Amino acid sequence: MKRKIRLQRGTPNNLKLEEFEVEVETGMVVLDAIHRIQATDAPDLAVRWNCKAGKCGSCSAEINGEPGLTCMTRLSDYPENETLTVQPMKTFPLIKDLVTDVSWNYEVNKQIQPYQHTETDGDPIMFQKEVDRVQEFRKCIECFLCQDVCHVLRSHDMKQEFAGPRFMIRNAGLEMHPLDQGDRLEKIRSEHGIGLCNITKCCTFVCPEHISITDNAIIPMKERVVDEYYDPLKWIWNTLIGKSN
Ligand code: SF4
Ligand code: F3S
Ligand code: FES
Repeated sequence: MKRKIRLQRGTPNNLKLEEFEVEVETGMVVLDAIHRIQATDAPDLAVRWNCKAGKCGSCSAEINGEPGLTCMTRLSDYPENETLTVQPMKTFPLIKDLVTDVSWNYEVNKQIQPYQHTETDGDPIMFQKEVDRVQEFRKCIECFLCQDVCHVLRSHDMKQEFAGPRFMIRNAGLEMHPLDQGDRLEKIRSEHGIGLCNITKCCTFVCPEHISITDNAIIPMKERVVDEYYDPLKWIWNTLIGKSN
């Protein structure tokens, strides 16, 4: 069976949608079709991938306008006679064809205080429910689809002011860790701009790891920030002890 697939080609000043007709078999995913196009019609096609198993987070793209992993999206999810359009993520600068420059994310990651722990005598005690609470955040594969779809980054381009959902879950995973002794709240409030998230939940809808980004990470972090910085009694206490408000 043949399928028509349109791919975005080119560099930022020279963009076009190029249509290909590709032979497909049952069970193929979008990335398979892209590889076949690369092997037959477009050897210079730039596409990023690695594991082809939904675990490296490299193959993120927009398929018919919806963010997704091309290695986990079956062609059969779309009607046979429909022409699929595959484009790169729009929130990050385009390098070429389907490849974007996601390095800004790694810079944000470096700003997060890592796990802090002081050695004490004896084995540290953690309860299973405390472990369970942060476990889901560790499933993140850094595909950055949540960053791609969040309107604060995508439509308003507030990368200087907002760290984005991926880094809210990293912050939350550390802040909720039962043994961590770090303090990231001030940064989450100011530099990472948690107040800019207005709970649209688009990030949660697109996460291929089904992490409850908004409910389990962002909302609890918002509550902690409000308790710490916007509670009038806490504000007076912080002023008395000389802690910044
Ligand atoms: Fe991808 Fe989900 Fe991690 Fe966001 S939280 S980077 S959508 S795996
Ligand atoms: Fe953006 Fe997710 Fe908040 S999409 S606005 S970070 S709920
Ligand atoms: Fe690794 Fe798709 S190639 S997640």
